Amino acid sequence: MKKYEVAVIPGDGIGKEVVPESIRLLNTVAVQCGFEISYKHYDYSCEYYKNHGKMMDDDGLKKLRDSDGIFLGAVGYPGVPDHVSLWGLLVPIRRTFQQYVNLRPVKLLKGVDSPLKNPGNIDFYIVRENNEGEYSSIGGRLNEGTEHELVVQESIFTKRGVDRVMKYAYELANKRNKKLTSATKSNGIIHTMPYWDERFKAIGKLYPDVVQSQFHIDILTAHFVTRPHEFDVVVASNLFGDILSDLGPAVIGGMGIAPGANLNPEKEFPSMFEPVHGSAPDIAGKNVANPIASVWTAAMMLTHFGEYEAAALVENAIEQLTAEGNVLTPDLGGNASTVEVTDALIQNIITK
Ligand code: NAD
Ligand code: IPM
Ligand code: MN
Repeated sequence: MKKYEVAVIPGDGIGKEVVPESIRLLNTVAVQCGFEISYKHYDYSCEYYKNHGKMMDDDGLKKLRDSDGIFLGAVGYPGVPDHVSLWGLLVPIRRTFQQYVNLRPVKLLKGVDSPLKNPGNIDFYIVRENNEGEYSSIGGRLNEGTEHELVVQESIFTKRGVDRVMKYAYELANKRNKKLTSATKSNGIIHTMPYWDERFKAIGKLYPDVVQSQFHIDILTAHFVTRPHEFDVVVASNLFGDILSDLGPAVIGGMGIAPGANLNPEKEFPSMFEPVHGSAPDIAGKNVANPIASVWTAAMMLTHFGEYEAAALVENAIEQLTAEGNVLTPDLGGNASTVEVTDALIQNIITK
């Protein structure tokens, strides 16, 4: 029997509610499809930071490295500055394990209301560069406390870093509807973004069947609202991809159903699976968080493991649930709890 070892980091807020539910569902689907998953739990979180002065053990990365995948809820909570949870946990994991693709699907499910009048068939992927770009520690503050105070924040784009994410995006588009859109801002940001465009075109030469388009990020955000059904795959830098991957979910029903995967496509290191949403302090501890984003994220992990039948079972269970529409959390207009929605999803899996 195939066995997978998954490192689990529930993290903060609703992460602690949706992750155990996703594991309950994963266990069901594993039995159904004949494989085994064992879990190692890590309490790395803002609470851990408050107790230990750091987001994870000194040898935390070494411990995570041996896993087949890392399953994360969310980190970040009021009381601990966000840059601490980012640079103390998320960034080290994403970078050490070369998870240079942050893959975030945007799909309008049957039964889910879009805030758009005529949404059409929305089904695309955001490929966010996940290791460099605008998320950089290079920079600093000068003349602190004076009238001449200034801060500098550098962006770093390397040829290797840009080319590999472009290749991933072109490959994905090539397997889908052969349309790749690049998010740029080369009319305003005059060093990094023209380079991004240059590499987009250069790598595109290897994929003559893929239709290329590029838009400046300002108008692209408008297109996400006015014609989201026209996109197939969208490739973006770290910051632009972050912004687009909250806007995308906004037009398909919200953060509660948006999955994501931080991928090391070569499988040289473990990939990390975390939904797009954060710890949602406003609804934490109330058993009302939508587990769909986390459960769908678990399906992305199964796909990464090559357990395609199991991944399809989970995705179909989600689609059946929203199409039927009678067991939904409040964000989707229902009054069911996190646990009740997971129960219903598990029921859909068992009865398939
Ligand atoms: P958020 O995604 O946590 O919440 C935004 C809104 O979406 C809130 O109204 C929330 O209630 C709602 N929401 C999110 N997930 C939901 C779910 N599953 N079901 C129902 N509603 C849901 O974003 P935020 O408020 O900007 O961030 C809160 C904290 O989380 C911050 O500390 C931030 O840095 C952190 N964060 C972490 C991650 C991560 O670890 N991957 C991602 C984003 C934000
Ligand atoms: C995300 C989050 C993080 C990011 C935050 C928490 C630093 O918004 O995963 O999208 O910007 O990468
Ligand atoms: Mn984000």
